[in-house]
Amino acid sequence: MLLASAVPVYVPTIEEKGFRLDIHAFRRAVTEKTKAIMFCTPSNPTGAVFEEEELRTLGGIALENDLAIIVDESYEYFTFDGVKHFSLASIPELKEKTVSCFTFTKTYAMTGWRVGYVLAKADWVTQMLKAHIPFSICTPVVSQYAALTALQGPQDCVAEFRKKYLDLRDLTCERLGNLNSVFEYQKPKGSYCMFPKILHKDGSDSLSFCKKLLLEGRVSTTPGVAFGPTGESHLRITFCDSEEAINKAFDRMEKYFGRA
Ligand SMILES: Cc1ncc(COP(=O)(O)O)c(C=O)c1O
Repeated sequence: MLLASAVPVYVPTIEEKGFRLDIHAFRRAVTEKTKAIMFCTPSNPTGAVFEEEELRTLGGIALENDLAIIVDESYEYFTFDGVKHFSLASIPELKEKTVSCFTFTKTYAMTGWRVGYVLAKADWVTQMLKAHIPFSICTPVVSQYAALTALQGPQDCVAEFRKKYLDLRDLTCERLGNLNSVFEYQKPKGSYCMFPKILHKDGSDSLSFCKKLLLEGRVSTTPGVAFGPTGESHLRITFCDSEEAINKAFDRMEKYFGRA
């Protein structure tokens, strides 16, 4: 966005309702200068999965104001508790206005292979290539073959990953519950990220808080402010590793905050 000289306007979500979309705030944020609405669902960092009805309303706002919609749908297959991901590009009137972004990094755990794709109308893709080519020319050929194999092979791994992330989410929530004087969390409905609020007295500066947690507590997290100004007083944790790694991180945090 900044590369295209656009000015991002942040619209906070409603944390106490599981970081759901704030449609009224979206309406208020749209001006005659607005060109596009951009968001991520299932969400990194919050783990929220925006509901179909809210997304349809958002799509209506885009149509009324002739806005493009850019959606990062990388975690489309990783939703929990019966919640389903809904893609705005599946609405015929919105198909031409929507850029849907996906990556093999999530669906097939192919982090580092650098394969992703977008679904958008052809003349928009022509414009995207102007930025993409100077950055990377093309996706490495070996990665393209690996991605092809992932697509053509059995798909059971995707369901297996989803089950694994669900178990790890539950473990992470259980362990966070033991730190309830330090963090307050919303249970994520998708992705493998969550965004607890820091209740600790040093939590308002999330960067310093996370640095200290890393250097003294030996646990790596991401400061909430990295996701925009309203992410302050939060940290992002991911639960895509193993049960062992999660338990180790929480054992360290319990020890660290017990002392802090
Ligand atoms: C929402 C989201 N989009 C994109 C990416 C990155 O994908 P890639 O590895 O294809 O750059 C991530 C990875 O962390 C992500 O969480």
